[in-house]
Amino acid sequence: MLEVDGLTIDYGRGRSRRRVVADVSFSIAAGETLGLVGESGSGKSTIGKAILGLVPVAGGSIRFAGEEISTASGRRRRQLTREIQVIYQDPYGSLNPARRIGTTLAEPLTVGRQSLGRREVAARVAEALDLVGLPASAADKLPGDFSGGQRQRIAIARAIIVRPRLIVCDEAVSALDLSIQAQVLNLLQDLSAELKMSYLFVSHDLAVVELLSSRIAVLYKGSLVENGDAREVFDHPRDPYTQLLRAAAPVPAPREQELRRDEFFEKLRARSGV
Ligand SMILES: Nc1ncnc2c1ncn2[C@@H]1O[C@H](COP(=O)(O)OP(=O)(O)OP(=O)(O)O)[C@@H](O)[C@H]1O
Ligand SMILES: [Mg+2]
Repeated sequence: MLEVDGLTIDYGRGRSRRRVVADVSFSIAAGETLGLVGESGSGKSTIGKAILGLVPVAGGSIRFAGEEISTASGRRRRQLTREIQVIYQDPYGSLNPARRIGTTLAEPLTVGRQSLGRREVAARVAEALDLVGLPASAADKLPGDFSGGQRQRIAIARAIIVRPRLIVCDEAVSALDLSIQAQVLNLLQDLSAELKMSYLFVSHDLAVVELLSSRIAVLYKGSLVENGDAREVFDHPRDPYTQLLRAAAPVPAPREQELRRDEFFEKLRARSGV
């Protein structure tokens, strides 16, 4: 469904021009989750932005459902990328604090030619809230009325309301407490199965990536150093940099959280039959 081939991205111009992504190739099948892991500054978010059509590409191609995104002209690109949504680390930064949740969620359904009628919009807002485990009454509230984990659920509701085929999750759980991380990861896992969506799951945390991904790509200074089956990459990393990430896979400090995390691992593994 998504094919990235030889993707190369430069930032800056003239003498300050710098290559931040070099010859990166990977693909994501329908319903599949690819984990993209790498240290800060390795180019993860830049790759996500390129897939969303938000940064110019210096070389290579990004095809979504067979169509080239990187060279599509404005209108066509917006059509194509409508089926690709994004969830960021900080929903508070991306949710308008003065706007009711219902209005924020309804927005993508009320613009453009495919704009829906009032009743259908209300039904879709309620459905999206329900899918992320929030009551319909949340629509009348403001972002500030919710906890961090709930706000991330709202960001997820906003992403799924247009029924996308691919979601770029950029550090989507990194700012959350460990136990809340587990809940949100669980929700993302359920939603991908229920709505048959694919994820590009971007994180600096290999352990988190391993939970959701069927395959893992490891990015080091703009280049992929590994791309393979998730368990294989996690359990038997071939590249020295991945081995380093593996060794640094965080061990949560409080014992109680550690247990919860283990339970979560087990539960997910049992469910996916691994
Ligand atoms: N708009 C920009 N203009 C110039 N350089 C940028 C821009 N955005 C990012 N960079 C640089 O490009 C490189 C890759 O950044 P990117 O944000 O993609 O990394 P990342 O892997 O997502 O890091 P993090 O884990 O910190 O989010 C970094 O060196 C960064 O400083
Ligand atoms: Mg980033």
